[in-house]
Amino acid sequence: MTRSSEETASAIRRQLAGVLDPELRRDLVSLGMIEAVEVREDGASARIVLKLTIAGCPKKSHLTEAVREAAEREVSSAEVELTVMTPEERDALTREVKGPERRIPFAEPDSLTRVITVASGKGGVGKSTVTANLAFALAARGLSVGVVDADIHGFSIPPLMGVSEGPTKVGELMMPPRVADVPVMSIGMFVGSDQPVSWRGPMLHRAVEQFLRDTWFGDLDILLLDLPPGTGDVAITVSQLLPSSSMLVVTTPQADASAVAERAGALAAQTGHEVLGVVENMSWIEAGGQRLTPFGEGGGQMLADRLTARLSESQPSGVPLLAQIPLRDGVRDLPQRHGHDDAFTGLAERLAARPRGLQGKPLGVSPAR
Ligand SMILES: Nc1ncnc2c1ncn2[C@@H]1O[C@H](COP(=O)(O)OP(=O)(O)OP(=O)(O)O)[C@@H](O)[C@H]1O
Ligand SMILES: [Mg+2]
Repeated sequence: MTRSSEETASAIRRQLAGVLDPELRRDLVSLGMIEAVEVREDGASARIVLKLTIAGCPKKSHLTEAVREAAEREVSSAEVELTVMTPEERDALTREVKGPERRIPFAEPDSLTRVITVASGKGGVGKSTVTANLAFALAARGLSVGVVDADIHGFSIPPLMGVSEGPTKVGELMMPPRVADVPVMSIGMFVGSDQPVSWRGPMLHRAVEQFLRDTWFGDLDILLLDLPPGTGDVAITVSQLLPSSSMLVVTTPQADASAVAERAGALAAQTGHEVLGVVENMSWIEAGGQRLTPFGEGGGQMLADRLTARLSESQPSGVPLLAQIPLRDGVRDLPQRHGHDDAFTGLAERLAARPRGLQGKPLGVSPAR
């Protein structure tokens, strides 16, 4: 029995409804990207018009191939023609995927994304290194993870994670570049690296807000934010913009570093954010079968104990020392893109083991750990 051209065309559309746009993570049919499906008279070949969001779409050839492949499950040959959306169509699509009001998706009460900020009291303790490696380790466990570099003055995430492109603009949205399937946005891409950034107060607030609102991350299990050191404007802004975020505090084993880091934790407590735990970085170096501790010992545990005492009311279950990260000889091994590093894998496991969607939500009780 032979199908009519119409039946074949609907079959092709059904196949295309299974093809996802790699950036928007929704199917091409519901995104309005399939302009036409025409089956030729012979019933064995078809012409498909694929409407790209922007002319220079970096995923153009990938999409064309995916469309052809899907269509050729129904006909023996498919020809894919490309067109481009008008600005109006692009805006409609932007509204469609983001909703009519433009708000920060991670701040919505029904958001299932866990937002984790990575903070420290002082600079250079390894926040960015921890953020980058943790992201790769979580992704290696199959979680969908996004990274935001909110360090306006000292953005370092793109080179650390090996990202050199900037975002792709689609209408009013920015599509972040991806590495190992992790979408990465940096304020550095936003302002352009040749611009010295010297924003203050309200400007900073607006920049971070816009950045979080206008970037399309899709559905994430976890969003990691690399904060600038200290308890300055950006840290406060982020905690206001993302009321249900929780915090990881990074410190080195030195006692003085952990005393400073306590301030970051105290800020989280003041603003009602959960402190997930402490990560001690540069804990030891392996040399000749021995562990040397050039930066002292015990700072991470001491900080965890102090934060536990300080936050005993809001977090009666305490603030654990979640990981100790050894020093590498040379930074060229960092980050471990595939999560092979034990310390980061362990940290990722401990974080992933916590239930999704409960962190920092005002439940009135503290979730048991
Ligand atoms: N475990 C480690 N072993 C070896 N080098 C490390 C380790 N962790 C961090 N580093 C190095 O220490 C330096 C500071 O790390 P990083 O940039 O991650 O710190 P930071 O806290 O983000 O700094 P800033 O406050 O400037 O943002 C970097 O050169 C980094 O490569
Ligand atoms: Mg940093």
